[in-house]
Amino acid sequence: MPQSQKPRKKSPVAQTDTPAGGISPKLWFYGFIALMIIGGGILFLQAKPETKTTHLDVFAPELQGIEVKGGKLYAANCAACHGPNAAGSEKGPPFVHKIYARDHHVDASFYNAVKRGVQAHHWPYGNMPAVEGVSDDDVTAIIAYVRKVQVANGMK
Ligand code: HEC
Repeated sequence: MPQSQKPRKKSPVAQTDTPAGGISPKLWFYGFIALMIIGGGILFLQAKPETKTTHLDVFAPELQGIEVKGGKLYAANCAACHGPNAAGSEKGPPFVHKIYARDHHVDASFYNAVKRGVQAHHWPYGNMPAVEGVSDDDVTAIIAYVRKVQVANGMK
């Protein structure tokens, strides 16, 4: 059978587009507005948790021994970005967060971060520059402080 005589899959009627005339322009308009509101709401809800993680309500534990020194060094060198009590700020992430748990961010990542800085990879804050004038011993104290705050706030 020649190509042109093959039966068509769909009837010509079924192939024509459904006319938009069935729905009034007014309805299209309201539908559009409704979509904008729903879409905006979803964007708003998605944006919210992010701002929340940067301003945690963190319990500040009583410090002992090396943690006292670490707390002071932290306040002087890290709190500007990582927030008071490691709660985060608009410039840097909180350490009271599961991605900085001891098993995920081992102590070595703290020494490295201070010495070499950090390329942004977990967060939208941008890069962390290397921190001048903070020795390895200082970082050891800062880690003791950060771990103490983490544990006091329910982290392992
Ligand atoms: C100028 C802001 C700023 C300062 C000051 C700062 N940090 Fe950071 N830090 C950041 C940002 C931003 C990140 C997150 C980068 C990412 O993962 O997106 C970060 C990440 C880290 C990390 C995670 C590293 C990794 O491997 O993911 C550690 C550890 C850290 N900082 C330790 C410190 C310590 C300790 C100090 C103080 C001695 C300090 N930071 C001071 C901004 C800062």
